[in-house]
Amino acid sequence: MTAKFKEQHRPQFHFSPEEKWMNDPNGMVFFNDGYHLFYQYHPYGTTWGPMHWGHAVSKDLIHWEHLPIALFPDEHGEIFSGSAVVDWNNTSGFFGDQPGLVAIYTSAGTYPDSNRPRQRQSLAYSKDNGRTWVKYEGNPVLSDVNITDYRDPKVFWDNDTNKWVMVLATGQSVTIYTSRNLKDWKFASEFGNKAGSHDGVWECPDLFKLPVDNNQDNQKWVMIVSIGDNGESKEGSRTQYFIGQFDGTTFVNDYDDATILWLDYGRDNYAGVSWSDVKDGRRIYLGWMSNWRYANQVPTNSFRSAMTLPRELSLVSGIEGVRLVQKTVSEINAIRKETVSHQEKIIAANHPVSIPLNNKLIEMTIQFEKVTSNQFGLIVQHSETEKTSITYDVLKEKLLVDRSNSGKNSFSTSFPTVQETPLKLKNNIVKLQLFIDTSSIEVFVNDGEVAVTSLIFPSEAGQELILFSNEGNTIVSDFKITELNSIWSS
Ligand code: FRU
Repeated sequence: MTAKFKEQHRPQFHFSPEEKWMNDPNGMVFFNDGYHLFYQYHPYGTTWGPMHWGHAVSKDLIHWEHLPIALFPDEHGEIFSGSAVVDWNNTSGFFGDQPGLVAIYTSAGTYPDSNRPRQRQSLAYSKDNGRTWVKYEGNPVLSDVNITDYRDPKVFWDNDTNKWVMVLATGQSVTIYTSRNLKDWKFASEFGNKAGSHDGVWECPDLFKLPVDNNQDNQKWVMIVSIGDNGESKEGSRTQYFIGQFDGTTFVNDYDDATILWLDYGRDNYAGVSWSDVKDGRRIYLGWMSNWRYANQVPTNSFRSAMTLPRELSLVSGIEGVRLVQKTVSEINAIRKETVSHQEKIIAANHPVSIPLNNKLIEMTIQFEKVTSNQFGLIVQHSETEKTSITYDVLKEKLLVDRSNSGKNSFSTSFPTVQETPLKLKNNIVKLQLFIDTSSIEVFVNDGEVAVTSLIFPSEAGQELILFSNEGNTIVSDFKITELNSIWSS
């Protein structure tokens, strides 16, 4: 492992750029030699700046090979977020017999007669597995309609209508366009002006179909929409989703406009979208593990930002309706070391149980069953003074992930915070799965029904785990701790 991957706060099992600034994942596509990940990249600084597309490739979604920059700014502007597809049937005419990759991204420039921002959509294509790209000479392929926020095209092939479909963030809505050749786009519909959260500008949409409860005969469409930074009283940038129907032209929300479904209850999962063309049909999601509220200030040195773990998405129906479920991809197995199973225990009121973690990279599963307690949970004690706690509050019916004393946090007043998730007990049980890296904790609740993704900047990953129960007893079972390898060493 080179020294740079050992520096303080460098994630050990999450993707991060070799150096400098990164934000959104872009152009995620599976093709020939693996999973491609492009990303918003500023190669000359550790804060946001003129955007390029950085590039990495992986065979297993866990270990990544960093590759040279894929797309550089040009006469149309910087290269903002977008997607990539495999053009299997050469609909674009860019390829001969062999299919290739087409990237569809936002050219972020200015109007010729002023400095007013102008966002338009452009294409680039690659015949060598994304290693080199040619910009289409007819760029841009989709010009703005005089609105400032007009970006982040996510494109997919719709088998039912034999057309390409683009979802584009357009201010406070998502506009849908269709095309036969990726070059000529036709307006199809607009969704969302009144639906869901409008706490920030809409960005980075995605749209895809998934079976409900694994039933191929009952499919629903999921639209993911990120919302940008907002007022101090809010959580900053975060991600919502909608569930509904799509007929190749129009998306219809299954729920009323007032329903807001959050993809993550933590502060640090933004601008995430899914991989295109995954061979085995899985819908795999990756988010940028940061928040525009403080992304430019987080206390790392040679690089800034990491991605979440890749998560497989599915739809599950419950009493409140259909919901999106997230599970870390099974390829995480590649870095699992030993698992230690702990016996079922009763945690008595005010008698916390302590277990050494020895500063390792950790995955943990644990089931809490409320007996008479009114609060229970765990504390990851990073050092003597630094800790992150996860508490279920029976009376408030909330899961609280408290990182207010988790380590460095003075870089932003928005960072030290308790992240709250409304959560009802089912049969008195809360099941947690945690991934603890050097600078993040991802919490999956009840088999992925809820995700809480948080950055933390402790001096050490975790020295000790403390299980606690307040004002009564709690039973802990199915408790396993698995040590994980660093992706930079395995
Ligand atoms: C989301 C975003 C996108 C934009 C990109 C610019 O985080 O603001 O809307 O394309 O970042 O880097």
